[in-house]
Parts: sequence; C-alpha cells; structure tokens
Amino acid sequence: MLAESAQKEPYTHSDQYQEIRELAQAKNAVILAHYYQTDDVKRVADYVGDSLELAKRAAACEAENIVFAGVRFMAETAKIINPSSSVYMPDPSAGCSLASSITAADVVALKKQYPGHKVVTYINTTADVKAESDVACTSSNAEHIVRELSKEAPLIFIPDENLAVYLEGKTGIELKKWRGVCHVHQALSAEKLLKLKEQFPSYEIISHPEAHISILEISDFVGSTSQLLQAVKSSNAPGFIMGTEVGLATRLSAESGGRTVIAAPAEEDNSCSCSECGYMKLNTLGKIRNCLVEGSGEVFVEPALAARALRSIERMFVFS
Ligand code: 13P
Ligand code: SF4
Repeated sequence: MLAESAQKEPYTHSDQYQEIRELAQAKNAVILAHYYQTDDVKRVADYVGDSLELAKRAAACEAENIVFAGVRFMAETAKIINPSSSVYMPDPSAGCSLASSITAADVVALKKQYPGHKVVTYINTTADVKAESDVACTSSNAEHIVRELSKEAPLIFIPDENLAVYLEGKTGIELKKWRGVCHVHQALSAEKLLKLKEQFPSYEIISHPEAHISILEISDFVGSTSQLLQAVKSSNAPGFIMGTEVGLATRLSAESGGRTVIAAPAEEDNSCSCSECGYMKLNTLGKIRNCLVEGSGEVFVEPALAARALRSIERMFVFS
C-alpha cells in the first residue's frame, strides 16, 4: 500500500501553508512527510507515510523535485531510488541514532566475523552501510524478509538490536546482532507503561518494534507506524497507550474516530509528557519553504555508491 494523501484543509495559523502549496506546484515538487513530523508539516505534505510507503512514493515520483520532511536516511534512500529527481531536506542535520550507530567498516568486519552469513539492514542506515548489505528492510517487512532470506543463509541483522530480538522471538530464527538502538524508543519506560495500563485497563498498548523487548512483551500489538494506524482502525478498544514517537498520536486518534491515545512516557520524564524524536522535529514550514525558494538542503549520493546501495533496496522491494 502506498502512502495516504495528506489532509489538505487550509492552514489557518499561517499564510505559509498556501505559499508552500503554490511554490510546490510552481516548482514541480512533491512534499513527502513521515508520520513523526509535526501536524503543520504533515498538513502541507502531498503524502504522509511510514518509511516503506515513503520510499515507494519516492520511487514512483515523476516530479522534478522531492522535499523530504523526515530524516537523512529517508531522503538519501529517496535519492538512491529516484536519481532523476532532486531531493531536498528541510534540515540537513536531521540524523537518526540508529543510522549513526554503525559504519560500513563495521559491516565489513561483521561479514568477516560471520562468514557465509547474509546481511539484512534496517532502512535506518547510511548509503554506505546499505551498500555492504544484501537486503534492506523496514519495520513493516522485516519479519517477512528475515523468514525468506534465512532459507538462503544464516543472517546478520543490523543495526537495531531491539528489532532483532523481537524478530528472533517472532520467527525463532537466530540473528547475529549489532548493538544499535533508537534513543527515543529505548527511553520508553515499561514500568510507566504498566502504571498507565493499571489506570486504563481497557486501553490497548500498541508499540513500534524499535522499543525494548520489555515494552513489546506487554504490548497488544507491535508494528510499524502505518501498521499501528491500521491496528487502531480494526480495534474496539476505547483508547490506546502508544509505545512510539509522540508525532503519531494525533493521526492515531483521528484514524480511530477520536478515541484517546496516550503517548507512553520516557524513563527520565517525570513530567509524564512523552517521547519526541528531536531529529524529526527539526523540520519546519519555514525550512520547507527555503527548500522550494532557495533550493537549500539538496541531498547528493555519489553515483557508484548509490548503485551499490540500490541493490539492497531493490531486493527489499522484490521481497515486499
Ligand atoms: P517506520 O518504518 O515505522 O515509519 O519507522 C521509521 C522510524 O524511524 C521509526 O523510528
Ligand atoms: Fe531514528 Fe529513532 Fe528518530 Fe526514528 S525515532 S528517526 S529511529 S532517532
């Protein structure tokens, strides 16, 4: 399934909404936004989706320009699969703790350590890590890809250790792991989640597989951002306790017909607010406008490297 169309209602707090929509049309640009973006960024986007849906959108995109409101690995992936479009990041410093947890040299060393293994890399990685890998995956398709590829060889799964542990539990397939974590999901507190469940026993706990196994074990449903949205639609629960980044909450509530969504608090957070990815939140309407007016934040991937990284992304598309 491709990404959903964003709602297009007028952005009442600012003329920037109208200006950006007009600029996007004039510049033949498509704006893609991840679910963790702020509501105003998602509202101005042409498409909102999870990382797999947005990669598919980028692959199918015929526009001259793509403004990617997400983080660097997402924009880089878009450039690799669609080199004929110019891809822009509203804030080029929007990184990802998983992507920065591993280098291409680390992957080369792992392959030496575990000869005969194939490497499955989470899409939250740099182009050079993808170039050293056999197949990419996202949280939507990781289980399927691990099951299929394990028929060919034993597997190394990089870099998300939490996701790897979760996949081992689901599939019974042993994975050689790397110790990468998403700092946002890692900070979620199982203890605080259980306290919320005591307060709201009829609510379902729904979590992203980047969270620690202690969170996933007590969750009623585990899935990618889009899969969580699908799950709330088909659930009869009166409300949800959400174990992922706070940006998904408004959409989850809307998709569930206005039911309550409580974002699970982080370990350190005594104010009982919720977990936020600071990288995702670097993107603003003003910065999107700058991409369109000034061409700022263009993403480049060296063509030979892109060709090598593309193989693992294309293999993922074949599997999914
Ligand atoms: P999704 O593939 O679920 O969109 O996840 C991307 C991500 O970075 C989650 O932290
Ligand atoms: Fe990366 Fe975590 Fe932010 Fe997702 S939420 S982009 S995995 S740092």
